[in-house]
Amino acid sequence: MVATNTNEVQTNYDRQSELKAFDDTKDGVKGLVDAGITEVPRIFHQPPDEHFIDNTSDSEATQTQFSIPVIDLEGLALDSPTKRKEIVAKVGEASETWGFFQIANHGIPIGVLEEIKDGVRGFFEQDTEVKKELYTRDYFRPVIYNSNFDLYKAPATNWRDTFICYMAPYAKKPEDLPEVCRDILIEYSKQIMRLGKLLFELLSEALGLTPSHLNDIDCSEGLVLLCNYYPACPQPELTLGTSKHADSYFLTVLLQDHIGGLQVLHKNKWIDVPPVPGALVVNVGDLLQLISNERFKSVEHRVLANRVGPRVSVASFFTTGMLPLKKLYGPIKELVSGDNPPKYREKNCEGL
Ligand code: OGA
Ligand code: NI
Repeated sequence: MVATNTNEVQTNYDRQSELKAFDDTKDGVKGLVDAGITEVPRIFHQPPDEHFIDNTSDSEATQTQFSIPVIDLEGLALDSPTKRKEIVAKVGEASETWGFFQIANHGIPIGVLEEIKDGVRGFFEQDTEVKKELYTRDYFRPVIYNSNFDLYKAPATNWRDTFICYMAPYAKKPEDLPEVCRDILIEYSKQIMRLGKLLFELLSEALGLTPSHLNDIDCSEGLVLLCNYYPACPQPELTLGTSKHADSYFLTVLLQDHIGGLQVLHKNKWIDVPPVPGALVVNVGDLLQLISNERFKSVEHRVLANRVGPRVSVASFFTTGMLPLKKLYGPIKELVSGDNPPKYREKNCEGL
């Protein structure tokens, strides 16, 4: 099929000043939608994607041929070594081939998942003047709310607003967190930290290491929450909710609502990650790819814009960024050999 680009991306305009005008509203994409716009402004227009002719989903055939594994963790509660081995094998296989999987029966109560989604929506839908006070590009602030962290650098702006909270290892003063969702941010983070420890045990075992290995090298010490709000979009084919990217940290645990739109690039095709009620999406980040010497894959993904919305998601990143020690991470010694030499040099993870 010939890719016809009917959505010519205009480049002969003063993009920087249009970005600045958008930034100065401190009201994000939601502000545009609330103002009643019916066309997507040109700063949001995506250049054509080399992997695909448009921003819609791939064909039904591809979607059914491939799907992200859903792994049921319920068996871990049985304390059965056979069941655990089975689960570890599935986690390992998914991390090697997809870099992505979903987990069911992960132990975080449905009520907590509902409450954090409501809390995030509540943040974005609170009184605009209160919310604007938190709008910033100063990444040293305890809570960073803005639209498009890379607004002035990215080739196209995403149809998405975000707030970021650094939750661990430093305990945040509760009064630094946004009031509308303070309690649930703390509760959700506690639950995600506990789940993170378990996931890093399973991933360690899948790599043939002692169960505590990845936790011992501090993979589960740092937690950043990225709370995303994707407003309904009048022309979803012109833009994206989140452009194609891979996550830079060790591991991401993503909670998405029922709307959908997340896609993973697998064998050069965009595959949907369908919402599964009560499940969480887990994906390998660049740092885990590095320390596993590429056994586990950090895979590119994106989020489509949608006529229906808002869509809410919470991405929990396990990271080193806020740790006091500036550590070096390289391929784990036990995973390299003469036949399998290190594919990366040690990397200073400061500032990640
Ligand atoms: C991210 C991300 C996906 C989503 O924040 O890195 O990929 O569904 N988010 O919001
Ligand atoms: Ni991501």
